[in-house]
Amino acid sequence: MSTNKFSDYINSGYSCKNDYITLGGALLNGEAIPNTHINIPLKTINRHGLIAGATGTGKTKTIQVFSEQLSLAGIPVLMMDIKGDFSGIAVPGTENDFIKKRHQDIVLPYSTQGFPVEFLTLSEEKGVRLRATITEFGPIFFSRILDLNDIQSGVVAVIFKYCDDHKIPLIDLKDFKKVLQYATDQGKKEFEAEYGRISAATTGAILRKIIELEHQGATTFFGELSFDIEDLMRVNQEGLGYINILRLTDIQDKPKLFSTFMLSLLAEVYQKMPEQGDSGRPELVIFIDEAHLIFDQATKALQDQIETIIKLIRSKGIGIYFITQNPTDIPAGVLSQLGLKIQHALRAFTANDRKAIKLTAENYPLSDYYKTAEDLTKLGTGEAFVTALNEKGIPTPLAACLMRSPMSRMDILTNQEIDLLIANSKLVKKYEQAIDNESAYEILTAKIEAAESENEKNSAKKSNKASTKNSDQPSATQKAIIKTVTSATFIRGVFGILSKVLGGSKKK
Ligand SMILES: Nc1ncnc2c1ncn2[C@@H]1O[C@H](COP(=O)(O)OP(=O)(O)OP(=O)(O)O)[C@@H](O)[C@H]1O
Ligand SMILES: [Mg+2]
Repeated sequence: MSTNKFSDYINSGYSCKNDYITLGGALLNGEAIPNTHINIPLKTINRHGLIAGATGTGKTKTIQVFSEQLSLAGIPVLMMDIKGDFSGIAVPGTENDFIKKRHQDIVLPYSTQGFPVEFLTLSEEKGVRLRATITEFGPIFFSRILDLNDIQSGVVAVIFKYCDDHKIPLIDLKDFKKVLQYATDQGKKEFEAEYGRISAATTGAILRKIIELEHQGATTFFGELSFDIEDLMRVNQEGLGYINILRLTDIQDKPKLFSTFMLSLLAEVYQKMPEQGDSGRPELVIFIDEAHLIFDQATKALQDQIETIIKLIRSKGIGIYFITQNPTDIPAGVLSQLGLKIQHALRAFTANDRKAIKLTAENYPLSDYYKTAEDLTKLGTGEAFVTALNEKGIPTPLAACLMRSPMSRMDILTNQEIDLLIANSKLVKKYEQAIDNESAYEILTAKIEAAESENEKNSAKKSNKASTKNSDQPSATQKAIIKTVTSATFIRGVFGILSKVLGGSKKK
Protein backbone atom coordinates (compact mmCIF):
# COMPACT_ATOMS: atom_id res chain seq x y z
CA MET A 1 0.00 0.00 0.00
CA SER A 2 1.39 3.38 -0.87
CA THR A 3 2.90 5.40 1.94
CA ASN A 4 1.63 8.65 0.42
CA LYS A 5 -1.93 7.44 0.41
CA PHE A 6 -1.59 6.38 4.05
CA SER A 7 0.00 9.69 4.95
CA ASP A 8 -2.83 11.64 3.28
CA TYR A 9 -5.42 9.47 5.01
CA ILE A 10 -3.93 10.04 8.48
CA ASN A 11 -3.23 13.73 7.88
CA SER A 12 -6.78 14.42 6.82
CA GLY A 13 -8.14 12.36 9.75
CA TYR A 14 -6.00 14.23 12.28
CA SER A 15 -6.08 17.77 10.87
CA CYS A 16 -7.39 20.44 13.26
CA LYS A 17 -8.68 23.93 12.50
CA ASN A 18 -8.19 25.15 16.06
CA ASP A 19 -5.66 24.47 18.86
CA TYR A 20 -4.38 20.94 19.29
CA ILE A 21 -1.54 18.94 20.79
CA THR A 22 0.70 16.50 18.94
CA LEU A 23 1.34 13.09 20.51
CA GLY A 24 3.72 11.68 17.88
CA GLY A 25 3.87 10.38 14.32
CA ALA A 26 2.09 7.52 12.55
CA LEU A 27 3.65 4.11 11.94
CA LEU A 28 2.94 1.80 9.02
CA ASN A 29 4.35 -1.75 8.96
CA GLY A 30 6.47 -0.82 11.97
CA GLU A 31 8.10 2.17 10.18
CA ALA A 32 7.60 5.80 11.18
CA ILE A 33 6.10 7.80 8.33
CA PRO A 34 7.57 11.33 8.27
CA ASN A 35 5.28 14.35 8.64
CA THR A 36 2.23 12.28 9.52
CA HIS A 37 1.42 13.63 12.94
CA ILE A 38 -1.18 12.44 15.41
CA ASN A 39 -2.90 15.62 16.55
CA ILE A 40 -5.54 15.77 19.26
CA PRO A 41 -7.84 18.82 19.23
CA LEU A 42 -8.03 20.63 22.59
CA LYS A 43 -11.75 20.88 21.99
CA THR A 44 -12.38 17.17 22.58
CA ILE A 45 -9.92 16.56 25.41
CA ASN A 46 -12.80 16.89 27.89
CA ARG A 47 -14.30 13.79 26.27
CA HIS A 48 -12.10 11.62 28.50
CA GLY A 49 -9.81 8.76 27.60
CA LEU A 50 -7.96 5.56 28.29
CA ILE A 51 -4.26 4.77 28.24
CA ALA A 52 -3.67 1.04 28.42
CA GLY A 53 -0.90 -1.49 27.80
CA ALA A 54 1.21 -4.22 29.35
CA THR A 55 3.82 -3.33 31.92
CA GLY A 56 6.83 -1.41 30.59
CA THR A 57 5.23 -0.53 27.25
CA GLY A 58 5.30 3.25 27.82
CA LYS A 59 2.04 4.27 29.52
CA THR A 60 3.64 6.54 32.09
CA LYS A 61 5.83 8.23 29.47
CA THR A 62 2.73 8.78 27.36
CA ILE A 63 1.07 10.56 30.30
CA GLN A 64 4.25 12.59 30.73
CA VAL A 65 4.21 13.64 27.06
CA PHE A 66 0.49 14.35 27.19
CA SER A 67 0.82 16.42 30.39
CA GLU A 68 3.74 18.41 28.98
CA GLN A 69 1.83 19.31 25.84
CA LEU A 70 -1.21 20.35 27.90
CA SER A 71 0.96 22.45 30.20
CA LEU A 72 2.52 24.17 27.17
CA ALA A 73 -1.02 24.97 26.01
CA GLY A 74 -1.70 26.55 29.44
CA ILE A 75 -3.87 23.71 30.72
CA PRO A 76 -3.26 22.41 34.26
CA VAL A 77 -3.08 18.72 35.04
CA LEU A 78 -3.80 16.58 38.09
CA MET A 79 -1.88 13.33 38.14
CA MET A 80 -2.80 10.55 40.57
CA ASP A 81 0.69 9.16 40.99
CA ILE A 82 0.27 5.74 42.56
CA LYS A 83 3.76 4.49 41.81
CA GLY A 84 5.57 7.72 42.61
CA ASP A 85 7.34 7.74 39.23
CA PHE A 86 6.12 11.04 37.81
CA SER A 87 8.19 13.63 39.66
CA GLY A 88 10.82 13.96 36.90
CA ILE A 89 8.47 16.19 34.91
CA ALA A 90 9.64 19.12 37.08
CA VAL A 91 13.13 19.22 35.55
CA PRO A 92 14.56 19.15 31.99
CA GLY A 93 15.38 15.73 30.51
CA THR A 94 18.51 14.74 28.61
CA GLU A 95 18.53 14.13 24.90
CA ASN A 96 19.98 10.77 23.84
CA ASP A 97 20.41 8.96 20.50
CA PHE A 98 17.19 7.01 20.97
CA ILE A 99 15.16 10.19 21.42
CA LYS A 100 17.00 12.01 18.60
CA LYS A 101 16.27 9.23 16.12
CA ARG A 102 12.65 8.95 17.20
CA HIS A 103 12.04 12.65 16.61
CA GLN A 104 13.96 12.66 13.33
CA ASP A 105 11.88 9.74 12.08
CA ILE A 106 8.58 11.45 12.76
CA VAL A 107 9.97 14.92 11.89
CA LEU A 108 9.09 16.70 15.11
CA PRO A 109 11.49 19.13 16.82
CA TYR A 110 12.81 18.13 20.24
CA SER A 111 14.07 20.24 23.12
CA THR A 112 14.39 19.65 26.84
CA GLN A 113 12.40 21.52 29.49
CA GLY A 114 11.08 21.22 33.05
CA PHE A 115 7.49 22.09 34.01
CA PRO A 116 5.87 23.81 37.00
CA VAL A 117 5.00 21.13 39.54
CA GLU A 118 3.09 21.07 42.79
CA PHE A 119 3.19 17.97 44.99
CA LEU A 120 0.04 17.10 46.88
CA THR A 121 -0.46 14.49 49.57
CA LEU A 122 -3.29 12.83 51.47
CA SER A 123 -1.04 11.57 54.23
CA GLU A 124 2.12 12.56 56.06
CA GLU A 125 4.21 12.66 52.88
CA LYS A 126 5.81 15.91 51.82
CA GLY A 127 3.66 18.26 49.79
CA VAL A 128 0.48 20.30 49.86
CA ARG A 129 -1.79 18.71 52.42
CA LEU A 130 -5.12 17.76 50.89
CA ARG A 131 -7.74 17.83 53.59
CA ALA A 132 -11.50 17.71 53.60
CA THR A 133 -13.91 18.29 56.43
CA ILE A 134 -16.34 15.53 57.28
CA THR A 135 -19.20 17.91 56.49
CA GLU A 136 -17.81 18.36 52.97
CA PHE A 137 -17.34 14.64 52.59
CA GLY A 138 -21.04 14.12 53.20
CA PRO A 139 -22.94 11.12 54.66
CA ILE A 140 -22.83 8.96 51.50
CA PHE A 141 -19.05 8.95 51.14
CA PHE A 142 -18.47 8.87 54.85
CA SER A 143 -20.61 5.74 55.25
CA ARG A 144 -18.92 4.17 52.29
CA ILE A 145 -15.42 4.85 53.50
CA LEU A 146 -16.43 3.23 56.80
CA ASP A 147 -18.01 0.29 54.99
CA LEU A 148 -21.27 0.60 56.92
CA ASN A 149 -24.44 -1.40 56.45
CA ASP A 150 -27.80 0.27 55.69
CA ILE A 151 -28.86 0.71 59.32
CA GLN A 152 -25.52 2.20 60.29
CA SER A 153 -25.56 4.47 57.21
CA GLY A 154 -29.00 5.63 58.31
CA VAL A 155 -27.59 6.68 61.67
CA VAL A 156 -24.74 8.51 59.94
CA ALA A 157 -27.31 10.37 57.85
CA VAL A 158 -29.16 11.37 61.05
CA ILE A 159 -25.93 12.65 62.62
CA PHE A 160 -25.29 14.80 59.54
CA LYS A 161 -28.88 16.04 59.59
CA TYR A 162 -28.64 16.96 63.27
CA CYS A 163 -25.44 18.91 62.64
CA ASP A 164 -26.95 20.63 59.60
CA ASP A 165 -30.12 21.54 61.54
CA HIS A 166 -28.12 22.91 64.47
CA LYS A 167 -25.38 24.54 62.36
CA ILE A 168 -22.70 22.44 63.99
CA PRO A 169 -19.72 21.86 61.70
CA LEU A 170 -18.23 18.38 61.50
CA ILE A 171 -14.60 19.09 60.80
CA ASP A 172 -12.63 16.03 61.86
CA LEU A 173 -13.11 12.50 63.19
CA LYS A 174 -12.99 13.78 66.76
CA ASP A 175 -16.11 15.84 65.99
CA PHE A 176 -17.99 12.97 64.49
CA LYS A 177 -17.19 10.67 67.40
CA LYS A 178 -18.38 13.33 69.82
CA VAL A 179 -21.80 13.72 68.15
CA LEU A 180 -22.13 9.97 67.89
CA GLN A 181 -21.58 9.57 71.62
CA TYR A 182 -23.82 12.51 72.39
CA ALA A 183 -26.67 10.95 70.39
CA THR A 184 -26.98 7.98 72.75
CA ASP A 185 -25.74 9.70 75.90
CA GLN A 186 -26.46 13.27 77.06
CA GLY A 187 -28.34 14.13 73.85
CA LYS A 188 -30.41 10.95 73.81
CA LYS A 189 -33.73 12.67 74.57
CA GLU A 190 -33.09 15.49 72.13
CA PHE A 191 -32.30 13.00 69.34
CA GLU A 192 -35.22 10.78 70.16
CA ALA A 193 -37.62 13.73 70.03
CA GLU A 194 -36.31 14.99 66.71
CA TYR A 195 -35.23 11.91 64.76
CA GLY A 196 -36.36 8.80 66.62
CA ARG A 197 -34.39 6.38 68.75
CA ILE A 198 -30.79 5.56 67.93
CA SER A 199 -29.44 2.31 69.26
CA ALA A 200 -26.25 2.40 71.30
CA ALA A 201 -25.21 -0.89 69.69
CA THR A 202 -25.28 0.77 66.25
CA THR A 203 -23.33 3.85 67.34
CA GLY A 204 -20.87 1.51 69.06
CA ALA A 205 -20.36 -0.41 65.81
CA ILE A 206 -19.84 2.84 63.86
CA LEU A 207 -17.39 4.03 66.48
CA ARG A 208 -15.31 0.88 66.09
CA LYS A 209 -15.19 1.41 62.31
CA ILE A 210 -14.00 4.98 62.84
CA ILE A 211 -11.21 3.74 65.09
CA GLU A 212 -10.21 1.30 62.33
CA LEU A 213 -10.14 4.18 59.86
CA GLU A 214 -7.98 6.20 62.24
CA HIS A 215 -5.52 3.32 62.26
CA GLN A 216 -5.35 3.58 58.44
CA GLY A 217 -4.14 7.16 58.78
CA ALA A 218 -7.38 8.95 57.97
CA THR A 219 -6.96 11.29 60.94
CA THR A 220 -4.60 13.44 58.88
CA PHE A 221 -7.03 13.60 55.96
CA PHE A 222 -10.11 14.89 57.77
CA GLY A 223 -9.75 18.44 58.98
CA GLU A 224 -9.02 22.01 58.02
CA LEU A 225 -7.80 23.90 56.11
CA SER A 226 -9.86 22.08 53.52
CA PHE A 227 -8.40 22.09 50.02
CA ASP A 228 -9.69 24.65 47.56
CA ILE A 229 -10.20 23.07 44.14
CA GLU A 230 -9.29 26.41 42.49
CA ASP A 231 -5.72 25.73 43.56
CA LEU A 232 -5.56 22.93 40.99
CA MET A 233 -6.32 25.35 38.15
CA ARG A 234 -3.15 27.41 38.26
CA VAL A 235 -1.01 28.61 35.38
CA ASN A 236 2.49 30.00 36.02
CA GLN A 237 3.86 33.40 34.93
CA GLU A 238 5.04 32.00 31.60
CA GLY A 239 1.56 30.69 30.91
CA LEU A 240 2.40 27.02 31.57
CA GLY A 241 -0.29 24.96 33.24
CA TYR A 242 0.68 23.49 36.61
CA ILE A 243 1.28 19.76 36.88
CA ASN A 244 -0.27 18.80 40.21
CA ILE A 245 1.10 15.47 41.33
CA LEU A 246 -0.89 13.73 44.04
CA ARG A 247 1.47 11.21 45.57
CA LEU A 248 -0.52 8.15 46.49
CA THR A 249 2.20 5.55 46.95
CA ASP A 250 0.76 4.45 50.28
CA ILE A 251 -2.82 4.07 49.10
CA GLN A 252 -2.40 0.98 46.88
CA ASP A 253 -3.52 -1.42 49.57
CA LYS A 254 -6.55 0.72 50.43
CA PRO A 255 -8.63 0.62 47.25
CA LYS A 256 -11.78 1.62 49.08
CA LEU A 257 -10.23 4.73 50.56
CA PHE A 258 -8.81 5.57 47.15
CA SER A 259 -12.04 5.13 45.20
CA THR A 260 -14.04 7.04 47.79
CA PHE A 261 -11.54 9.87 47.83
CA MET A 262 -11.49 10.00 44.02
CA LEU A 263 -15.24 10.12 43.75
CA SER A 264 -15.55 12.83 46.41
CA LEU A 265 -12.86 14.85 44.64
CA LEU A 266 -14.67 14.55 41.31
CA ALA A 267 -17.95 15.50 42.96
CA GLU A 268 -16.32 18.57 44.43
CA VAL A 269 -14.65 19.58 41.18
CA TYR A 270 -18.02 19.14 39.50
CA GLN A 271 -19.78 21.24 42.10
CA LYS A 272 -17.24 24.08 42.17
CA MET A 273 -16.59 24.48 38.46
CA PRO A 274 -18.94 26.67 36.46
CA GLU A 275 -20.69 25.24 33.45
CA GLN A 276 -18.30 25.74 30.54
CA GLY A 277 -19.38 27.59 27.47
CA ASP A 278 -17.85 26.74 24.15
CA SER A 279 -14.28 27.72 25.08
CA GLY A 280 -12.91 24.90 22.93
CA ARG A 281 -10.32 23.85 25.53
CA PRO A 282 -10.31 21.91 28.78
CA GLU A 283 -9.94 23.61 32.19
CA LEU A 284 -8.23 20.68 33.88
CA VAL A 285 -7.15 17.21 32.86
CA ILE A 286 -7.04 14.44 35.47
CA PHE A 287 -4.93 11.32 34.96
CA ILE A 288 -5.71 8.33 37.16
CA ASP A 289 -2.89 5.80 37.13
CA GLU A 290 -3.62 2.22 38.20
CA ALA A 291 -7.28 3.01 37.57
CA HIS A 292 -8.33 -0.59 38.19
CA LEU A 293 -7.93 0.26 41.90
CA ILE A 294 -10.94 2.55 41.64
CA PHE A 295 -13.13 -0.16 40.23
CA ASP A 296 -11.81 -2.99 42.41
CA GLN A 297 -14.51 -3.99 44.88
CA ALA A 298 -16.73 -1.17 43.64
CA THR A 299 -20.38 -2.00 44.04
CA LYS A 300 -22.76 -1.61 41.11
CA ALA A 301 -24.12 1.55 42.78
CA LEU A 302 -20.66 3.10 42.98
CA GLN A 303 -19.89 2.16 39.38
CA ASP A 304 -23.11 3.86 38.36
CA GLN A 305 -22.11 6.96 40.31
CA ILE A 306 -18.71 7.05 38.66
CA GLU A 307 -20.31 6.61 35.26
CA THR A 308 -22.75 9.43 35.92
CA ILE A 309 -20.21 11.89 37.23
CA ILE A 310 -17.96 11.21 34.25
CA LYS A 311 -20.86 12.00 31.97
CA LEU A 312 -21.67 15.22 33.82
CA ILE A 313 -18.18 16.56 34.51
CA ARG A 314 -17.41 16.87 30.80
CA SER A 315 -19.59 19.96 30.57
CA LYS A 316 -17.36 21.63 33.18
CA GLY A 317 -14.35 21.26 30.90
CA ILE A 318 -12.74 18.47 32.91
CA GLY A 319 -11.15 15.55 31.05
CA ILE A 320 -10.52 12.30 32.94
CA TYR A 321 -8.01 9.77 31.69
CA PHE A 322 -7.80 6.25 33.08
CA ILE A 323 -4.49 4.42 32.92
CA THR A 324 -4.46 0.68 33.39
CA GLN A 325 -2.79 -2.42 31.99
CA ASN A 326 -5.87 -3.96 30.46
CA PRO A 327 -8.86 -2.08 29.07
CA THR A 328 -11.06 -4.86 30.43
CA ASP A 329 -10.24 -3.46 33.92
CA ILE A 330 -12.61 -0.57 33.15
CA PRO A 331 -16.38 -1.22 33.34
CA ALA A 332 -18.09 -1.18 29.94
CA GLY A 333 -20.33 1.76 30.90
CA VAL A 334 -17.28 3.93 31.59
CA LEU A 335 -15.27 2.59 28.66
CA SER A 336 -17.99 3.54 26.21
CA GLN A 337 -17.67 7.19 27.27
CA LEU A 338 -13.97 7.52 26.58
CA GLY A 339 -13.21 9.55 23.46
CA LEU A 340 -9.43 9.20 23.24
CA LYS A 341 -7.93 5.74 23.37
CA ILE A 342 -4.19 5.12 23.50
CA GLN A 343 -3.44 1.42 23.49
CA HIS A 344 0.15 0.31 24.03
CA ALA A 345 1.26 -3.27 23.39
CA LEU A 346 -0.52 -6.19 25.01
CA ARG A 347 1.14 -9.53 25.69
CA ALA A 348 -0.40 -12.84 24.66
CA PHE A 349 0.82 -15.33 27.24
CA THR A 350 -2.39 -17.13 28.07
CA ALA A 351 -5.74 -17.97 26.48
CA ASN A 352 -7.28 -15.25 28.62
CA ASP A 353 -4.73 -12.73 27.28
CA ARG A 354 -5.66 -13.68 23.72
CA LYS A 355 -9.33 -13.21 24.49
CA ALA A 356 -8.64 -9.78 26.01
CA ILE A 357 -6.60 -8.77 22.94
CA LYS A 358 -9.38 -9.81 20.59
CA LEU A 359 -11.89 -7.86 22.65
CA THR A 360 -9.64 -4.80 22.77
CA ALA A 361 -9.09 -4.86 19.01
CA GLU A 362 -12.85 -5.02 18.43
CA ASN A 363 -13.27 -1.78 20.33
CA TYR A 364 -11.14 0.12 17.82
CA PRO A 365 -12.25 1.48 14.45
CA LEU A 366 -11.76 -0.90 11.51
CA SER A 367 -8.68 -0.14 9.41
CA ASP A 368 -7.37 -1.14 6.00
CA TYR A 369 -3.85 -0.49 7.20
CA TYR A 370 -3.59 -2.60 10.34
CA LYS A 371 -4.39 -6.08 11.56
CA THR A 372 -5.29 -4.63 14.93
CA ALA A 373 -5.34 -7.75 17.12
CA GLU A 374 -2.12 -9.11 15.67
CA ASP A 375 -0.32 -5.76 15.60
CA LEU A 376 -1.29 -5.05 19.22
CA THR A 377 1.21 -7.68 20.37
CA LYS A 378 3.96 -6.32 18.12
CA LEU A 379 4.00 -2.64 19.14
CA GLY A 380 7.38 -1.52 20.51
CA THR A 381 8.06 0.55 23.62
CA GLY A 382 6.57 4.01 23.34
CA GLU A 383 4.34 2.96 20.42
CA ALA A 384 0.56 2.76 20.66
CA PHE A 385 -2.63 2.49 18.70
CA VAL A 386 -4.53 5.77 18.90
CA THR A 387 -8.02 6.88 18.07
CA ALA A 388 -9.43 10.22 19.20
CA LEU A 389 -12.43 12.42 18.54
CA ASN A 390 -11.95 15.06 15.87
CA GLU A 391 -13.25 18.61 16.28
CA LYS A 392 -16.67 17.46 15.13
CA GLY A 393 -16.71 14.72 17.75
CA ILE A 394 -16.29 11.92 15.18
CA PRO A 395 -13.73 9.14 15.88
CA THR A 396 -10.45 9.63 14.01
CA PRO A 397 -8.98 6.80 11.95
CA LEU A 398 -7.01 4.18 13.84
CA ALA A 399 -3.30 5.03 13.81
CA ALA A 400 -0.29 3.23 15.22
CA CYS A 401 1.68 6.08 16.76
CA LEU A 402 5.36 6.47 17.58
CA MET A 403 4.94 8.66 20.65
CA ARG A 404 7.11 11.74 20.99
CA SER A 405 9.55 11.66 23.93
CA PRO A 406 9.16 13.58 27.16
CA MET A 407 10.99 16.93 27.25
CA SER A 408 11.43 16.49 30.98
CA ARG A 409 13.39 13.89 32.90
CA MET A 410 12.29 10.28 32.34
CA ASP A 411 13.25 9.40 35.90
CA ILE A 412 12.24 10.50 39.37
CA LEU A 413 13.59 13.50 41.29
CA THR A 414 16.09 13.02 44.10
CA ASN A 415 14.92 13.69 47.66
CA GLN A 416 16.91 16.92 47.66
CA GLU A 417 15.21 18.11 44.46
CA ILE A 418 11.80 17.34 45.97
CA ASP A 419 12.71 19.15 49.20
CA LEU A 420 13.74 22.23 47.23
CA LEU A 421 10.49 22.30 45.28
CA ILE A 422 8.47 21.94 48.46
CA ALA A 423 10.47 24.62 50.25
CA ASN A 424 9.60 27.06 47.44
CA SER A 425 5.91 26.20 47.27
CA LYS A 426 3.44 28.84 48.43
CA LEU A 427 0.65 26.29 48.47
CA VAL A 428 2.50 23.98 50.85
CA LYS A 429 2.70 26.90 53.29
CA LYS A 430 -0.96 27.77 52.81
CA TYR A 431 -2.14 24.26 53.77
CA GLU A 432 0.66 23.38 56.17
CA GLN A 433 -1.02 23.96 59.49
CA ALA A 434 -3.91 21.97 60.79
CA ILE A 435 -6.49 24.40 62.15
CA ASP A 436 -8.76 23.31 64.96
CA ASN A 437 -11.65 25.73 64.62
CA GLU A 438 -14.60 25.57 66.92
CA SER A 439 -16.62 22.61 65.69
CA ALA A 440 -18.87 19.80 66.93
CA TYR A 441 -16.43 18.63 69.57
CA GLU A 442 -16.08 22.03 71.24
CA ILE A 443 -19.72 23.01 70.72
CA LEU A 444 -21.13 19.83 72.24
CA THR A 445 -18.61 19.79 75.06
CA ALA A 446 -19.68 23.33 75.95
CA LYS A 447 -23.32 22.36 75.61
CA ILE A 448 -22.95 19.37 77.93
CA GLU A 449 -21.10 21.47 80.49
CA ALA A 450 -23.76 24.18 80.33
CA ALA A 451 -26.53 21.63 80.76
CA GLU A 452 -24.80 20.13 83.74
CA SER A 453 -24.21 23.42 85.52
CA GLU A 454 -27.64 24.94 84.93
CA ASN A 455 -30.96 23.64 86.12
CA GLU A 456 -33.23 21.54 83.89
CA LYS A 457 -35.52 24.37 82.84
CA ASN A 458 -32.59 26.11 81.26
CA SER A 459 -32.06 23.43 78.67
CA ALA A 460 -28.93 23.31 76.54
CA LYS A 461 -30.99 23.77 73.39
CA LYS A 462 -32.40 27.11 74.49
CA SER A 463 -29.06 28.47 75.62
CA ASN A 464 -27.64 27.56 72.24
CA LYS A 465 -30.41 29.49 70.49
CA ALA A 466 -29.96 32.49 72.77
CA SER A 467 -26.26 32.73 72.20
CA THR A 468 -26.72 32.82 68.42
CA LYS A 469 -29.42 35.47 68.74
CA ASN A 470 -27.28 37.73 70.91
CA SER A 471 -24.61 38.38 68.35
CA ASP A 472 -25.78 40.39 65.36
CA GLN A 473 -22.36 40.22 63.67
CA PRO A 474 -21.23 36.66 62.90
CA SER A 475 -17.82 35.86 64.34
CA ALA A 476 -15.02 34.47 62.14
CA THR A 477 -15.82 31.02 63.46
CA GLN A 478 -19.49 31.37 62.70
CA LYS A 479 -18.63 32.49 59.18
CA ALA A 480 -16.49 29.40 58.80
CA ILE A 481 -19.37 27.33 60.10
CA ILE A 482 -21.78 28.87 57.64
CA LYS A 483 -19.33 28.28 54.78
CA THR A 484 -18.79 24.65 55.70
CA VAL A 485 -22.43 23.87 56.13
CA THR A 486 -23.37 25.56 52.89
CA SER A 487 -20.77 23.74 50.82
CA ALA A 488 -21.84 20.44 52.31
CA THR A 489 -25.40 21.13 51.35
CA PHE A 490 -24.20 21.81 47.82
CA ILE A 491 -22.30 18.56 47.60
CA ARG A 492 -25.22 16.61 48.88
CA GLY A 493 -27.22 18.54 46.32
CA VAL A 494 -24.94 17.18 43.62
CA PHE A 495 -25.62 13.69 44.82
CA GLY A 496 -29.28 14.45 44.93
CA ILE A 497 -28.94 15.28 41.24
CA LEU A 498 -26.89 12.14 40.72
CA SER A 499 -29.43 9.90 42.35
CA LYS A 500 -32.17 11.48 40.27
CA VAL A 501 -30.18 10.92 37.09
CA LEU A 502 -29.50 7.36 38.14
CA GLY A 503 -33.08 6.75 39.12
CA GLY A 504 -34.18 8.20 35.79
CA SER A 505 -31.77 6.16 33.72
CA LYS A 506 -32.81 2.97 35.47
CA LYS A 507 -36.41 3.45 34.51
CA LYS A 508 -35.58 3.62 30.82
N1 LIG B 1 7.76 8.10 24.33
C1 LIG B 1 8.90 7.54 24.76
N2 LIG B 1 10.09 8.07 24.40
C2 LIG B 1 11.23 7.53 24.83
N3 LIG B 1 11.31 6.46 25.62
C3 LIG B 1 10.17 5.88 26.02
C4 LIG B 1 8.91 6.39 25.61
N4 LIG B 1 7.96 5.62 26.15
C5 LIG B 1 8.57 4.68 26.88
N5 LIG B 1 9.92 4.81 26.81
C6 LIG B 1 10.90 3.94 27.49
O1 LIG B 1 10.24 2.81 28.02
C7 LIG B 1 10.37 2.71 29.44
C8 LIG B 1 9.10 2.21 30.09
O2 LIG B 1 8.08 3.15 29.93
P1 LIG B 1 6.98 3.45 31.06
O3 LIG B 1 7.59 3.56 32.39
O4 LIG B 1 6.20 4.59 30.57
O5 LIG B 1 6.13 2.11 30.99
P2 LIG B 1 4.72 1.76 31.72
O6 LIG B 1 3.84 1.19 30.67
O7 LIG B 1 4.24 2.92 32.47
O8 LIG B 1 5.15 0.60 32.70
P3 LIG B 1 4.43 0.13 34.09
O9 LIG B 1 3.22 -0.66 33.72
O10 LIG B 1 5.49 -0.73 34.69
O11 LIG B 1 4.14 1.35 34.87
C9 LIG B 1 10.77 4.11 29.86
O12 LIG B 1 11.56 4.11 31.01
C10 LIG B 1 11.54 4.65 28.66
O13 LIG B 1 12.90 4.27 28.71
MG1 LIG C 1 3.79 3.25 34.52
